[in-house]
Amino acid sequence: MKQLYIETLGCAMNTRDTEHIIAELSTKDNYELCTDASQADLIMINTCSVREKPVNKLFSEIGVFNKIKKDGAKIGICGCIASHLGAEIFKRAPSVSFVLGARNVSKVVKAVNTEKFVDVDIDYDESTYAFSEFRGSAHKAFVNISIGCDKKCTYCIVPHTRGDEISIPVDLIINEARKAAQNGAKEIFLLGQNVNNYGRRFSSKPKQKVDFSDLLNMISDIEEVERIRFTSPHPLHMDDKFLHTFANNPKVCKSMHMPLQSGSTHILEEMKRGYTKEWFLNRALKLRELVPDVSISTDIIVAFPGESDEDFEHSMDVMEKVKFEQIFAFKYSARPLTKAAEFTNQVDKEVGSARLKRLQDRQNEILDEISASRRDVVYEVYFEELRNNGMVAGRSDNNALVQVEGDEELLGSIQKVKITNPKRLSLYGEILK
Ligand code: SAH
Ligand code: SF4
Ligand code: F3S
Repeated sequence: MKQLYIETLGCAMNTRDTEHIIAELSTKDNYELCTDASQADLIMINTCSVREKPVNKLFSEIGVFNKIKKDGAKIGICGCIASHLGAEIFKRAPSVSFVLGARNVSKVVKAVNTEKFVDVDIDYDESTYAFSEFRGSAHKAFVNISIGCDKKCTYCIVPHTRGDEISIPVDLIINEARKAAQNGAKEIFLLGQNVNNYGRRFSSKPKQKVDFSDLLNMISDIEEVERIRFTSPHPLHMDDKFLHTFANNPKVCKSMHMPLQSGSTHILEEMKRGYTKEWFLNRALKLRELVPDVSISTDIIVAFPGESDEDFEHSMDVMEKVKFEQIFAFKYSARPLTKAAEFTNQVDKEVGSARLKRLQDRQNEILDEISASRRDVVYEVYFEELRNNGMVAGRSDNNALVQVEGDEELLGSIQKVKITNPKRLSLYGEILK
């Protein structure tokens, strides 16, 4: 067997693409996974290009692999940086053997076996390709429900790396979810850039009309599925039907990612997000009303071009009103191929850093309050991971990280846990017998 070492950066979509790559290379070629790059016959980096920093890091990383790799070992670059840099990667890093775009994963066996292979076609349709099977976790199964994104937010490179949005046929999704659940994955994690836009476009006419709410209900009908999560939904498509399905279906976990990006309606327009501050607040507060113990996470970009102090205050204001359980906040990063990169009113870097710090400091205070309020609360926790310190970690239905003392016997089980020691990043507790 040849050894494959693969590093995965970026979002859950890349995590699933990596599973597909491992599956294809182990069933249609002769590779097995290894964890030591210096022993590998093939080193792959599954890249993310959503912000500039990781792109710069990629080339220094290739340099490191050049030094440690075995004689004759190949290096392959896939994922979103591959999509937008294409053959330019060979020029900047001649040791690279192939470049495979994020929407071309099904071609990986050919890529590995073709000298200087490059394919970064973003119109390629993989929505009905039947990948071989590999799953990194026995307990949780990622299932793609769409590829690409139609939104063209002005800051975002993803539509240029993953192409237009195409929904995967319902029967393929249901079959994959059923198979994973019957193999022991109690949790199905649905993936797409705009999951609640599901069903808008298929590559061929579907037999029935199905939207995301319908899909959630159909997956919850699979007996072995106990939990359903998904990412990312878009606030624009959070209609009442979706919120009610989310609230009323007991298998749908009560944590919602609501990517705000900015609290300022003016900046949201410049970003082409399609909703206003009022719409976002209306949806988030309605969600809190329908599901009192829901946890809401968000993404916020600070210092988008033209963001004034007043605009930024609107983002702070939404934070105060919604009290997010988790925020992924980043400074705006200008990306090639995007509209906003050409805006002439870029915000000063120091202003951006100061805003980011203020936002994160306030969020930490909010989180401390939220965590403290969870003392003595009882959660149903699905245990998935052994920690080195004699602890076992899992997630509550509303996505809090919970740890208890224990061993591998707990893995894959759902237990009632009483929180005895709530910390900001993790809640510690005891299993109720
Ligand atoms: N489809 C998802 C987002 C995918 S990208 C959605 O619409 O929410 C993940 C996150 O990266 C985005 O939510 C955004 O907050 C951040 N991001 C994207 N482009 C960025 C940029 N140019 N600069 C900084 N952050 C960015
Ligand atoms: Fe990017 Fe916007 Fe699409 Fe999300 S919805 S992937 S932020 S273009
Ligand atoms: Fe990154 Fe591509 Fe995901 S740019 S965030 S890996 S879709």
